[in-house]
Amino acid sequence: MCGIIGYIGFRDAKEILVDSLKRLEYRGYDSAGIAIIDKKQQLFKDIGEIDEIKKNLPDFKGTIGIGHTRWATHGGVTKENAHPHLSSNKKIAVVHNGIIENFTKLRDNLKKKGYKFLSQTDTEVIAQLIEDNYTGNLEKAVFSALKKVEGYYAIVVTCTDEPDKIVGARKDSPLVIGVGDNENYLASDVTAFLKYTNRVVYLNDGELCIISNKEIRIFDEKNIPIERKENLIKWDLKDAEKSGFPHFMLKEIYDQPETVHHVIRGRISEIYRTIEFNEKVENLLKNGINSINIIACGTSYYAGLIGKYLVEKLTGIPVNVELSSEYRYFGTRNESSLVIAVTQSGETLDTLAALKEAKNSGCKTLVVTNVVGSTATRISDAYILTQSGPEIGVAATKTFTSQILVLFLLALKISIIKNKIGADELYKYILQLKELPRNVRQILNQSKKISGIASKLKNANSVFFIGRGLNYPLSLEGALKLKEISYIHAEGFAAGELKHGPFALLTKTTPVVVIVTKDSTYAKMIANIGEVKARGPQVIAIAEDSDTEIDKHADFVLPFPSNSGLLSCVPITVILQLLAYHVANLRECSIDKPRNLAKSVTVE
Ligand code: AGP
Ligand code: GLU
Repeated sequence: MCGIIGYIGFRDAKEILVDSLKRLEYRGYDSAGIAIIDKKQQLFKDIGEIDEIKKNLPDFKGTIGIGHTRWATHGGVTKENAHPHLSSNKKIAVVHNGIIENFTKLRDNLKKKGYKFLSQTDTEVIAQLIEDNYTGNLEKAVFSALKKVEGYYAIVVTCTDEPDKIVGARKDSPLVIGVGDNENYLASDVTAFLKYTNRVVYLNDGELCIISNKEIRIFDEKNIPIERKENLIKWDLKDAEKSGFPHFMLKEIYDQPETVHHVIRGRISEIYRTIEFNEKVENLLKNGINSINIIACGTSYYAGLIGKYLVEKLTGIPVNVELSSEYRYFGTRNESSLVIAVTQSGETLDTLAALKEAKNSGCKTLVVTNVVGSTATRISDAYILTQSGPEIGVAATKTFTSQILVLFLLALKISIIKNKIGADELYKYILQLKELPRNVRQILNQSKKISGIASKLKNANSVFFIGRGLNYPLSLEGALKLKEISYIHAEGFAAGELKHGPFALLTKTTPVVVIVTKDSTYAKMIANIGEVKARGPQVIAIAEDSDTEIDKHADFVLPFPSNSGLLSCVPITVILQLLAYHVANLRECSIDKPRNLAKSVTVE
């Protein structure tokens, strides 16, 4: 969950570490620290955000160092528990992302041997274990120490006796090498060092690497050397910065006309009237699919629910959507079923665990993710990238709409393979896809109006979101977005369910956001609005711009273009995102880094 950076080269390590930690702050931000070698380990760590910590940072000199921004799992948020952690002899420094499950046992044994512990973290045992195994070669000591460790980790380690190298290792947590000229980097993700290099080498699970300023060596879990090619990252640094917006979240909402275009680019062919994916995906789909299981968490789970609706409607194939954390233990596994994991980060531990379960049960697996080289892409049979560029705001926005679109393209592809769709119908969808960036732009142009309506919600204690069909998972997502960043209690309901219980909670001061489309449930939705209004709350309707009736029923109306058909879920999402954003902004909340949340949830 945390952010890790290691630097070795010729430049001032402090500047690079602090700058990279700032970029990694979205991964964890309760405390942070650095350790730079200048004969000894110069250590500084504290609680709080990087900008605050930076103010008190001593003027450490040195060209090799490691840094960490923490999202605590073991031990409270204190200065002592912040990383890096040093070994008892103060020579070895370690930063860690993950959890050491057998740390209590390891710590008791090490204590008996005389090692002194200064923190309550699981991480500190790694530093002590490395010291305990050290006989003059850091990588050998790390290798031996990790053999005793159960759990998961990405670690980066330095030792004052060998100030010409950094050792890194990973198991189930991300770690990537940045390749420079006479300098190298190790980090949780590429955004940390993208300012300095776009050349990367990915590490696989169980691998260990040694970087110096001149070379990179990688070993597998049996300690056999591995050759690994460099990859070039096409992301631009400006993609990872705010580009003048006050928050990453707002920038990412405004990225959507472009990201919508990116996700369909190269995948729809207007001329041949077909949908194309990479070869591995095509092969997977060709084998004839009779049922699908979608596994995901949070917002990605809601994308999965929308995917279910789209796939079932367009292909007739039954789709079961399960939360990864439930599927892992209780999910029904059927070898003939295709398992699709939807995960923006590709690193969500619950989803990775569920994916491994699915594989072990003999299912074919497909991943929809935004992060190239992420663990999920490497443990699945095939993957589709959402191609949205880095998403920094903790609240998922542009990646959600891209996930929906990938699932829509998949539904179309399967319906072509199964002969469920005619060329004309397919062409209609292709045109709707191409129209989508413009439709999204139309919503962005309404931002001021949405901000006006947000002012009606900003003092509410609770907000309801309701809809039917596709609009039900959208209601769930609208509510999640609002609660995540504004801290207002919000719930999404299937509109027909209000009368089965939630009505008991409805008071005059509970605004209700109603998503209403002109489909077969339109009359029922109007009736639902009536039921709500009878109990006094204000109703905000998100409705088609061609709907001339809705004004008579709702207090406020936010229109979206009528021409999007099934894809109306995309412009509707953008309205919901802007609504949540403006409410949170009016409440002066920490929008990009909401309390208690982290971008990439690599713990269970
Ligand atoms: C989204 O706004 C959330 N912060 C969260 O629910 C997220 O969608 C979830 O943790 C899943 O993450 P993933 O897509 O990276 O697997
Ligand atoms: N388990 C470690 C801790 O609590 C690392 C947490 C993290 O990934 O930030 O300090």
